[in-house]
Amino acid sequence: MNYICTNSPEETIELGKRLATLLKSGDVILLSGDLGAGKTAFTKGIALGLDIEDYVKSPTFTYVLEYKGKMSLYHFDLYRLQDIEEIYDLGFEEYLQCDGVLVLEWGDRVKEVLKEDEIDYISVFLEKVGEKNRKIYFDCNTKERNIAKELL
Ligand SMILES: Nc1ncnc2c1ncn2[C@@H]1O[C@H](COP(=O)(O)OP(=O)(O)OP(=O)(O)O)[C@@H](O)[C@H]1O
Ligand SMILES: [Mg+2]
Repeated sequence: MNYICTNSPEETIELGKRLATLLKSGDVILLSGDLGAGKTAFTKGIALGLDIEDYVKSPTFTYVLEYKGKMSLYHFDLYRLQDIEEIYDLGFEEYLQCDGVLVLEWGDRVKEVLKEDEIDYISVFLEKVGEKNRKIYFDCNTKERNIAKELL
């Protein structure tokens, strides 16, 4: 497993920003980790890297928020999802066809459906190791890309 340590929210945002430079349209990013691990902070970095200026907040009640930048960002928060199949009720398949990147907070909840549908994704797991310290693990389920290697 490949990970990078950050010691402040700003460093996590910066890392998200750097990841954004490696993304292409159609990429799906699954963010996982406990409450307050930094998933939204990381997404904010991705948004900044895509030249999206408006503040990124978690779309908890709407499930998905769309931001326009160099590429569109579709920010999902699946915390309240009851059944993984519900992801399709949100129009997930249509979002996959859009130009842009999909970021899914609590995305590990739908890992199995993505695997079944053979949808590639980049997995980012944020682990709280201290008040201001996070270990951020990267995993990419395609052999052609090694995101962590590119980020290091
Ligand atoms: N190294 C760090 N990286 C990210 N956030 C940090 C770090 N150190 C401290 N923090 C704090 O941790 C919190 C992270 O909040 P954030 O909303 O990004 O988490 P989250 O994983 O999206 O939570 P939720 O599951 O509730 O959506 C913020 O209050 C932030 O200031
Ligand atoms: Mg969040």
